[in-house]
Amino acid sequence: MEAAPSRFAYKSEVLSSAEKTDAYEDAIRQLDSILAGESHTILKMATINCVLREALPYYFWVGFYLAHDGELVVGPYQGTLGCLHISYDRGVCGAAARTGSVQVVPDVEQFPGHIACDSNSRSEICVPVHDPAGRLIAVFDVDSTELGSFDAVDEAFLSLIMKQHFSR
Ligand code: SME
Repeated sequence: MEAAPSRFAYKSEVLSSAEKTDAYEDAIRQLDSILAGESHTILKMATINCVLREALPYYFWVGFYLAHDGELVVGPYQGTLGCLHISYDRGVCGAAARTGSVQVVPDVEQFPGHIACDSNSRSEICVPVHDPAGRLIAVFDVDSTELGSFDAVDEAFLSLIMKQHFSR
């Protein structure tokens, strides 16, 4: 069953590549400073969600799904109610977990098996998160209410952030 649209949904703001780059660079500086010396995984996830959502006005839903007992379970997030369990063979998050590669989805309705936790979500990016040993620990997922919000700029900066804070 598709979830009802949230009463609190707001429209995502579209940024140019240059504006995105500035916003990500600023967020990265903040995260490097706030998280220096921190090792607690959930602390880092919660902080990354908050800093990125403040910096990037097209982040409608942002959060982590944790790899747990052979499936993905919802972890720290900001936004409307997320699905609680996602199996590896379903959705954008499952594809990221299964393939180990970033999924950029300009139109979620065109993605076979996409899981609509909130029908306001129209485009999405999902980035696998690995520990220093190369094991998948989570996927990082962002949704926008607009089509085509995510591109190579998001992919490059988000991959960098996940490596910096979880893979070394
Ligand atoms: N749309 C995702 C599910 C997670 S939510 O967007 C929060 C998917 O298809 O895997």
